[in-house]
Amino acid sequence: MEGAAVRLPYGVHRAFRQGERVDAVLRRAPAHGRHERAPSDAAQRQPRARRRSRVQGGHRRHARIPGYQGHRASAREGSGRGVPRPVRARARRRRPRRSARGSRRRDGELGRCARRRHQPLQRGLRAYSRACAPGARHPQRHARSPHRAGGAAVSAAPLRIGMVGYGYWGPNIVRNLARLASAELVALCDASEKNRARFEAAYPGVPTVASIEQLLAGHEVDAVVIATSAPTHHAIARAAIDAGKHCFVEKPLTLTSSDAEDLVRAADAAGVVLMVGHLMEYHSAIGWIKDYIASGNLGDVLYLYMQRLNLGKVRTQENAFWSLAPHDVSIALYLLGEMPESVSASGAAFVTPGVHDTVFANLRFRSGRMANIHVSWLDPHKVRRLTVVGSKQMLVFDDMQATEKIWVYDRGVEPPEALPYGADVQLRFGDIHVPWVPLKEPLQEEMEHFISCCQSGATPRSDGRDGLRVVRVLEAVDESIAAGGAPVPTRVEV
Ligand SMILES: NC(=O)c1ccc[n+]([C@@H]2O[C@H](COP(=O)([O-])OP(=O)(O)OC[C@H]3O[C@@H](n4cnc5c(N)ncnc54)[C@H](O)[C@@H]3O)[C@@H](O)[C@H]2O)c1
Repeated sequence: MEGAAVRLPYGVHRAFRQGERVDAVLRRAPAHGRHERAPSDAAQRQPRARRRSRVQGGHRRHARIPGYQGHRASAREGSGRGVPRPVRARARRRRPRRSARGSRRRDGELGRCARRRHQPLQRGLRAYSRACAPGARHPQRHARSPHRAGGAAVSAAPLRIGMVGYGYWGPNIVRNLARLASAELVALCDASEKNRARFEAAYPGVPTVASIEQLLAGHEVDAVVIATSAPTHHAIARAAIDAGKHCFVEKPLTLTSSDAEDLVRAADAAGVVLMVGHLMEYHSAIGWIKDYIASGNLGDVLYLYMQRLNLGKVRTQENAFWSLAPHDVSIALYLLGEMPESVSASGAAFVTPGVHDTVFANLRFRSGRMANIHVSWLDPHKVRRLTVVGSKQMLVFDDMQATEKIWVYDRGVEPPEALPYGADVQLRFGDIHVPWVPLKEPLQEEMEHFISCCQSGATPRSDGRDGLRVVRVLEAVDESIAAGGAPVPTRVEV
């Protein structure tokens, strides 16, 4: 790739992997029902160095606070004593090796720096990275995120939460809730005795029940967080909304758009928050890309495509598109800011008859833009990748990379009007930049956003209407697959 160069002018961020976090503060656990929250608030006010001493630096491990005994002890002592696992110092941040010019090259992508030609791009990126630095104000992100904007005052009392579903995903949510001072986990509901026992072993002292009715009747909660299998979402969410509880529902919101509409209407009528677990909308990298598109540096977005592939987890209740693609559809709608006009898709059920495990879907937008989504449970590689092609630059987000997740390519095709008469199309190969993006566990961001919206009354970024839009696209994909790939119009208004 002659002519291309890689520059890393701002350093490479050490991304946080699963189970790793920054500035997590241990908090006292509730005994039964409500609990005092003084220790967590006090802990948050501690000087940074002191807080750090309580932070887990481990990778791919569960939170260091699996049991409430540990919480209680550490909160009481205020020193981290009683913490189940030894506190480890944070791994040292590895700095990228730089050349004398402050740039770094990557194998296979090396070449001469077209330095002078691309200075404006680099300056733009530098200014942009400064704007995205921790603590820097960024108008658009702040406007979208009430708790960051410091907008409506957040109530001091922790939100009392009833958790529903402790299967595969529920424990991740609980782990994040348990570390938030703004949340109090009042009770867990799961229909499975085995999963209730698993929860009780991890969180002794927190009561468990077997049904949503028992949860709502027996425990005083402000909000319900639902991580049960998709077919149960509507009934459980409707029961919670009817009882006047704020509601977080894992993706997909429901399995039909009529059920999703019903939840949106019910939440509006009850005046409660309805939020959907479109996790990727809370991923720092997606936020960075959204802001970068808004900055105009990428030019007009022409098209984007996403791949979410792996071998498994093969499900039987919903197909791969309903299971995996809500993330990708929500990313497409979030980044492009519009609903597709039509969808065409093809899929195949190689593993379980009738359940598509491999799907290719194409979303067409009124603006002329296009989004393509490929999901599969039958692939040799685990891939989580988004490519955005703009009129000025192109960008790749690879979520499987631990550190260098976003690559911005200053490449494109010179428009014919910019060329001398009769000249051929000219390809432009410029610099490649890897911006430094501060990362935080998206699930924690998501839970904080939900709690903040419940407390302030703000509308969540991924509200019920967002959930409904995604369900409409998923339905259209099913219809198109059934029609042999024919384009199916989607209902745009919500
Ligand atoms: N955001 C993400 O990245 C992500 C990842 C995985 C799963 N999910 C979503 O999380 C949800 C749960 O997925 P999972 O893989 O954990 O499913 P799962 O089947 O492993 O767990 C579901 C749990 O809900 C319980 N349950 C089912 N019906 C119930 C009912 N009526 N009342 C009480 N408990 C009930 C089951 O006993 C089980 O423990 C799904 O909506 C899924 O799409 C999201």
